[in-house]
Amino acid sequence: MNQLVDAPPQALAGEPAANPVERAPWAVVGRGLAHESAHLHVAGAAAYIDDLPELAGTLHCALGLSPVAHGTLRGIDLDALRALPGVVDVLTAQDIPGTNDCGPIVHDDPVLADGTVHYLGQPVFAVIATTRELARRAAARAREVLRIEALPAVLTPREAHERGQHLGAPMVLARESAPGGTRRAIEAAPHRRRGRFVLGGQEQFYLEGQICAAVPLEDGAMRVHSSTQHPSEMQHVVAHALGVAVHKVLVECRRMGGGFGGKESQSALFCAVAAVAARRLARPVKLRVDRDDDFMITGRRHGFEFDYEVGHDEAGRILGAEVLMICNAGFSTDLSPAVLTRAICHFDNAYWLPEVSIRGVLARTNTQSNTAFRGFGGPQGALAIEVIVDEIARALGRDPLEVRRVNYYAEKPGAGRDVTPYRQPVTDTVIHALTDELERTSDYRARRAAAAAFNATSPVLKKGLALTPVKFGISFNVSHFNQAGALVHVYTDGSVLVNHGGTEMGQGLNTKVAQVVAHELGLPLQRVRCTATDTSKVANTSATAASTGSDLNGKAAQAAARTVRERLAAFWVGRLQAATETPAGTKDAGASSSGTIAGPGGGAASASADRGASASAPGVPGIAVEALQPEHVVFADGWLRCGAHAVRFDEIVAQAYLARVQLWSDGFYATPGLHWDRATLTGHPFYYFAYGAAVSEVLVDTLTGETRLLRADLLHDVGRSLNPALDIGQVEGAYVQGLGWLTSEELVWHPKTGALLTHAPSTYKIPTANDVPADLRTALFDTACTVDSIHRSKAVGEPPLLLAFSAFLAIRDAVSAAGGHRMDPPLSAPATPEAVLRAVNAVM
Ligand code: MTE
Ligand code: MOS
Repeated sequence: MNQLVDAPPQALAGEPAANPVERAPWAVVGRGLAHESAHLHVAGAAAYIDDLPELAGTLHCALGLSPVAHGTLRGIDLDALRALPGVVDVLTAQDIPGTNDCGPIVHDDPVLADGTVHYLGQPVFAVIATTRELARRAAARAREVLRIEALPAVLTPREAHERGQHLGAPMVLARESAPGGTRRAIEAAPHRRRGRFVLGGQEQFYLEGQICAAVPLEDGAMRVHSSTQHPSEMQHVVAHALGVAVHKVLVECRRMGGGFGGKESQSALFCAVAAVAARRLARPVKLRVDRDDDFMITGRRHGFEFDYEVGHDEAGRILGAEVLMICNAGFSTDLSPAVLTRAICHFDNAYWLPEVSIRGVLARTNTQSNTAFRGFGGPQGALAIEVIVDEIARALGRDPLEVRRVNYYAEKPGAGRDVTPYRQPVTDTVIHALTDELERTSDYRARRAAAAAFNATSPVLKKGLALTPVKFGISFNVSHFNQAGALVHVYTDGSVLVNHGGTEMGQGLNTKVAQVVAHELGLPLQRVRCTATDTSKVANTSATAASTGSDLNGKAAQAAARTVRERLAAFWVGRLQAATETPAGTKDAGASSSGTIAGPGGGAASASADRGASASAPGVPGIAVEALQPEHVVFADGWLRCGAHAVRFDEIVAQAYLARVQLWSDGFYATPGLHWDRATLTGHPFYYFAYGAAVSEVLVDTLTGETRLLRADLLHDVGRSLNPALDIGQVEGAYVQGLGWLTSEELVWHPKTGALLTHAPSTYKIPTANDVPADLRTALFDTACTVDSIHRSKAVGEPPLLLAFSAFLAIRDAVSAAGGHRMDPPLSAPATPEAVLRAVNAVM
């Protein structure tokens, strides 16, 4: 079923200077190797922050949350709290020595509420107690100890928008032949459609909740263990909260039990509170929130509402598209402008929109502040156009796949239909070939006919099918985030330690980076280890986000490893040359008898072969030993080889150490060619695009609204995969996570109190193993990335989440079938059984 490719792909013409044995049989990149921590994960031996041994004197913190959605804070009965058992201290906003803020872009995000409370669940005070249980018991008294004068709360983005309650100015992106071109194109089009589509948010539901352990160090410094995608940002937030310089704060993260965007900015509040408490009490302080509090405090994927109007022709070609995106930001800015930017930049998905006008607003509501979640607005923006294309097809009575195809960006660039609304040319599209392949392998045509035949004779159960494409831009829109650093240390025994600025959240980043380094040094993967991300090792790192982890850190680590490799090669060539210059019999022992020994598998070289090679270098025709260059040295399988010479990696490392050669290096990478103008929302924000497509088939029970996913065929473009096993895991995981977003995960706030009612697995349903379709066929679309990405691979973390559109549109197709395809099902997302039943009733 799953295509686990272990054979390394063929070498690529023009591959930039990497280890020249690129893609050789022993190669470590391109292989489906296990996650570096898999053996620890399954044995329960992978350490998360709550598993770290607690230092003597550790105190525990819990947060007191606002019981109202909006109000003025009049007072806190601190004495009542301090009198409770086990309570050591209680902190409020006034106790923060530095700045009371953890907003990543705009400073409107207090660590602890001050003056005004903005949502039900906002932390107002922190209790520090001798045990977690006692801290939580005290914090749970929030309702009794807080005096808050309630203010009217705005809970829905539509209401906020209508009241003009926005964060920042509206964002506008238009690409028109002349001003007003979109309007004219729509008005002149043979067909016009307008509509509204409502899309819910999504909780990240990382298995390891938000957690921070802060340890005070000497002289005002602080060590922070944070489950975070962004250690450098945590370092800044803690430094600002403590009022100390950034160099006084060390943030460490070995791994997260999932982040999914929820720990990009929103790990900050927990770091700030734990650090302030640790400083004040001069004791280690741990803050681990439980699942319900995590839901109540932190934000999630932004829900959106779209008001759209399009004009199209008889074939379904879009001639003009106008859309208003109302994005539910929640109470503060957080990362919302960036999320909305990405939503706007993905409204085109795989489609050329000749005249287009997009307007986006950030609606400020009295709810948790929404934040990054896998896809970062991209999925929301792209689903809007997919729903529109689906409706166009239904109105025309055409197969949606045909309507999709006629709207695709041109297959060959340069002849028009190839520039995104934000003006970046689409030069690397593989969507045509990818769609053709999936149409064939999924048997799309025959299965559509079969579904129609089934529906004709089945009055209650209806089948639906959809094929949807994905085009996803890779890079941070903000150009300067696209940089990374790494350190590679080669120890004297030849083992290698790598540290880079990225964080491991289960996606396999450390495995991929270790593969890159192992490959560069010609070592088996076991010889290379990645350590915890640590702000005191690599400085000024970007968040591990926007799927760029392996692209950026892989390149930085490759550069570092390459520096060490080049030093070793130069050293060894120098030794070989020195040996040939020395008269026989008086040679330097290190270079011949121990430095050049028999290699495995025919790569043999011996002291005598070495001696015999005094005139020219065997295997390097025409090059005299004196003319040998370090580039001639091949690093493979734990050996260095050059013609008939060979030396073990650990051997030459030990010699190089004695000769005082630097055996460690840093490496740095900045993605080339990016620029972005925030004011006009135009530029070249993405290094390349990742593509994919999926076919989902569903069965809907029109009496109950229940849906079963029968089969899914996923075909996803990861360029030349660094690790097909990990990539397939990412593709399938993302698809199922998208499935949850669009079918079962529903966020419900009480319409009067503003309380989030779905704040635990009992009421908020994420997909389980049972929701994975029994017939799941996943394949990677193997074509090299057209730009110089790490080993020509492509980012995989987020793009495949969009493959789940196919499941949502298959459900719409089935509901539409229930009504004889006479009207568009008024089905918003998530398509829960209730929503499906309502839509069925509307179309019948
Ligand atoms: N996979 C796992 N197992 N856990 C996660 O938290 N996060 C996703 C994706 N895949 C995530 C994951 C998100 S939101 C992003 S941006 C990328 O991984 C980040 O990692 P990468 O850039 O190394 O792909
Ligand atoms: Mo991922 S949403 O960019 O952390």
